[in-house]
Amino acid sequence: MTSALPYANGYIHLGHVAGAYLPADMYTRFLRSSGEEVIHVSGSDEHGVAILISANEEKVTPQEIVDKYHTANEEAFRGLGIAFDIFGRTTWPEHHATAREFFLALHAGGYLSEKEEEQFFDPEANMFLPDRFVEGTCPVCGYEGARGDQCDNCSSTYNQTELKNPVSKISGMTPELRTTRHFYFKLGDFQQRLDAYVDSHESDWRDHVLQQSRSWLKQGLGDRAITRDLSWGIDVPLPGYEGKKLYVWFDAPFGYITNTKVLAARSGAPDDWRRWWTDPATRYVAFIGKDNIWFHTLMFPAMLMGYNDRGGDAYVIPDNVPACNFLNLESAKFSKSKKWGIDLREYLAEFPADPLRYVLAANMPENKDADFTWREYQARVNNELADIYGNFVNRTLQFAGRYFEGSVPVLVAAAGKENEVKALLVEDLRRAALLDAASDVIVGELEPKYLKYFTRNDLAMLVELARAPHRVGLLYRAFRFREATLETMNVARAANKYFNDAEPWKTRREESSRCATSINICLQVVRSLAILFEPILPATTSAINAMLNVAPGTWNDAADLSVPTGGMLGEPAILFTKIDDETVERQVARLGAGADAAAEPPIEVALKPEVTIEEVMKLDLRVATVLAAERVKKSEKLIKLQIRIGNLERQILAGVGRQYEPEQLIGRKIVVVANLKPAKLMGQESQGMLLAANSPDDVPTVVVLVDREESVRDGFIVR
Ligand code: 2FM
Ligand code: ZN
Repeated sequence: MTSALPYANGYIHLGHVAGAYLPADMYTRFLRSSGEEVIHVSGSDEHGVAILISANEEKVTPQEIVDKYHTANEEAFRGLGIAFDIFGRTTWPEHHATAREFFLALHAGGYLSEKEEEQFFDPEANMFLPDRFVEGTCPVCGYEGARGDQCDNCSSTYNQTELKNPVSKISGMTPELRTTRHFYFKLGDFQQRLDAYVDSHESDWRDHVLQQSRSWLKQGLGDRAITRDLSWGIDVPLPGYEGKKLYVWFDAPFGYITNTKVLAARSGAPDDWRRWWTDPATRYVAFIGKDNIWFHTLMFPAMLMGYNDRGGDAYVIPDNVPACNFLNLESAKFSKSKKWGIDLREYLAEFPADPLRYVLAANMPENKDADFTWREYQARVNNELADIYGNFVNRTLQFAGRYFEGSVPVLVAAAGKENEVKALLVEDLRRAALLDAASDVIVGELEPKYLKYFTRNDLAMLVELARAPHRVGLLYRAFRFREATLETMNVARAANKYFNDAEPWKTRREESSRCATSINICLQVVRSLAILFEPILPATTSAINAMLNVAPGTWNDAADLSVPTGGMLGEPAILFTKIDDETVERQVARLGAGADAAAEPPIEVALKPEVTIEEVMKLDLRVATVLAAERVKKSEKLIKLQIRIGNLERQILAGVGRQYEPEQLIGRKIVVVANLKPAKLMGQESQGMLLAANSPDDVPTVVVLVDREESVRDGFIVR
């Protein structure tokens, strides 16, 4: 297993965690628990222009930048319980060697070409300028402040040298054009093999991963530059290229391989890495966020294929690339400049790891973007972790502590029968676990055989416990972590219900052997839950094992009823602390606070062509009162408003659903373009348009509300 190497120029935030590292860790833990041999490899990505820019900003050397963030990020991952087998670094000399080896092999194999091109050179800084270091006027729309290779105003992409009035962002000087030579990887040579590769995964890759890969393939793959004129990175290992470096996206993926090599060397079996990378039986899964798809489904596989063509041991290519979508925060994108974000280390300074793992897993952005809110965090921690799982474990252990002197009561009431019946039962449950039949049919079949010892409720609980590992396991294997999490919580729900229905507080007095059986079953279920929750809540599982005084279990023996009768239990402890309203409010208030307006540059405004007053007067702008508002089905953005403009009533559809709940608009006075020609949006008529403030990327959209509403009537003209 690999997960994307995060750039060592910033702190890991919750979006990164939900997008790659948590699912990778859950999957690894699940497979390991199921008895498979697996390693999880990651590390810091320490080269590239982004690191240089951060070094410039923080006024330190690039090495200092990567040292700082590598250390901080590794520690934060550890704090969250992400159990990498190794978290390496691309600045390691071993990595430079790996990258050089691949480069030279691809070169020898004829997969690299050289081209001369003109590029901007800053004579004062004495360096060629990467795209992100040049600004100028867009050659397409004339927008000033366009980036080196792309215009934020009209979205055109172009060659750096087509930019008009270029300015170096380093020295502020006009750069000169100089000729430079670069190596290109002939990605196009792999078109057919990549087509076949992607097609062969039609049924097991996520839809959006397939779609994105196919759309690149459809456009046709061309040569990709893999060297840069840069002072930071891995030297190009060929004469004539002094002072040039390998492109960061060329070297980074080989970091997965380097780090595996270092892991093997550290464990005293230096050759062992080959088993992971060149044994055809290895199944390689690459976890990434959605912005890394192309590199992992096309570019990296092609580089490995090209290397493999030399003959000898062949590297495995990813069998799956289960990329996640993005995680938003309280309905808005994570943004460094707006201080809109939660860094993992900030979170861990205040809260424990497991609740975050649970909340992110239950709402993982697997197939579409997801939203993290502190309210949802509170609700899931309080109502699910604390009230369901925590409560069940706690009441079971409390009860055993109080009424069975802290030991495990007898499962089977008939004297001397315990071991015999238990062995039979475990056997039957194992078989039942794999049956296709509905649970109550299975319970019905077991009932006559066990009627002497167990109630129907007992058997139903035991069958549920026996079937859950298989059912949840299938979800993990299908990379459906969200559902795996919800299903696991459902087992805890069933357990709580079983406790309630068994009423041990009553049977304790009237039927003590019945009470013993129920509590024994509850303790078995606690152990099973600890196993099933381990991929999601590893620290909680360790705590429960200590409370039960049992060794860690595995997925395959999760239904073995192996908490021994008579065993002594440890001290019960509260597993999850509830989150109060005040905490939520404090966390929400922190978001965006301290965003330094000065640090955020003013928005670059490119005005549209002038209009005359006559043209403006053609618009009939009016005050309107919102009479009713509701969301348009299947649309996140659209709200349908019924409005009144004096004696007229109209319906308009407005794209403000991300910022407003419909109720917030009812009764308010807004401004509309009243004479707009009606149009249909999502099959519904819109007869006008409301005025709203939009950011350049169209979020957030804030409605222009009328000031001093009480003195304004709908129908008033706005000018
Ligand atoms: O997007 C990123 O953060 C990159 N540093 C990911 C690199 S993944 C890999 F190929 F190393
Ligand atoms: Zn433009």
